[in-house]
Amino acid sequence: MSERTLVLIKPDGVKRGLIGDVIARVERKGLKVVAMDLRTLDAETAKAHYAEHAEKPFFGELVEFITSGPLVAMVLEGPRAIESFRALAGATDPVKAAPGTIRGDHALEIGENVVHGSDSPESAAREIKIFFPDRF
Ligand code: TYD
Ligand code: MG
Repeated sequence: MSERTLVLIKPDGVKRGLIGDVIARVERKGLKVVAMDLRTLDAETAKAHYAEHAEKPFFGELVEFITSGPLVAMVLEGPRAIESFRALAGATDPVKAAPGTIRGDHALEIGENVVHGSDSPESAAREIKIFFPDRF
């Protein structure tokens, strides 16, 4: 049973030259890249993507950060792709993320944690529609 997930290599990851590292980990794991695009988000798209966090104190900074430069949006496909990518990414707080994970190896601050991965089938469907409408 294959599933899809929406993954972002956030602006910090792109700025720091981590696109290749993230994609290498994804492909080594066996997940398939089925869509990919480098783009800079406008505030409206960023707010839609992070709508679940609209009332959180960090929302303003989150939107500012995610729109601060180009990011890579991807759709990954594979068995349990959602859980599988979240395991590769590691915990949200990069200090707590296990070494060997993307965040555990590359980040120190929660606000700049290199990647995003959908957290449920419902989020994946919603987020894929935002980034790749009409593609799937
Ligand atoms: P969240 O969806 O909780 O984490 P994840 O990316 O692991 O699914 O939060 C979304 C992003 O918001 C998170 O990647 C980084 C940022 N964030 C903060 O800046 N401060 C915080 O306290 C939290 C919880 C998240
Ligand atoms: Mg999340």
